[in-house]
Amino acid sequence: MPITIKEISALETYGVRHPVLRAGRPLEDCAMEGDELETTFHLGAYDDHLHVGVATFLKSSAAESPIDPTSNLSFYQLRGMGVIPDHQGKGIGKQLVERGIDMLKKNKVDALWFNARIAAVPFYERLGFSTIGSTFEVEHVGTHYKMYRVL
Ligand SMILES: CC(C)(COP(=O)(O)OP(=O)(O)OC[C@H]1O[C@@H](n2cnc3c(N)ncnc32)[C@H](O)[C@@H]1OP(=O)(O)O)[C@@H](O)C(=O)NCCC(=O)NCCS
Repeated sequence: MPITIKEISALETYGVRHPVLRAGRPLEDCAMEGDELETTFHLGAYDDHLHVGVATFLKSSAAESPIDPTSNLSFYQLRGMGVIPDHQGKGIGKQLVERGIDMLKKNKVDALWFNARIAAVPFYERLGFSTIGSTFEVEHVGTHYKMYRVL
């Protein structure tokens, strides 16, 4: 069965965000700042009717980005990226990021950045993203790198 990627609501992301990114924590912890903004979009990956992956793209300012706070580039931030365990390693994460990048390019967004869990860094590197700066700790989640790609 081919994987379908489509736009979904913020609430619909929780079905994957919770088990993959917020396991053992209250459902409310799935909420992310900016989830409901008009400039935000959420992508869901479906294997038939089963929701298997999610990614959220949020408009960001140059000042928030790790690249060059003074640049004139337009930025988005990727958050809440996850694929359920038994569907990982099948190209679904890659399809979600690539679909998001296609949409960003159509909207003339110049660059995408995010905080990457250290275990996911090789996944993002395969998609052309680079780490920038040193590692840092996120409470409850662990060690991260900032990563970016000019689109
Ligand atoms: C990280 C994650 C989103 C990747 O999604 P996925 O569907 O498993 O990844 P894909 O199958 O699309 O992988 C794409 C490519 O990256 C590679 N890859 C994926 N995860 C990798 C890893 N941990 N280490 C090395 N390579 C990896 C794949 O081999 C594949 O390479 P290829 O294109 O040469 O075949 C998923 O594993 C996940 O949800 N992990 C747990 C939550 C998490 O860490 N989210 C990221 C938070 S920043």
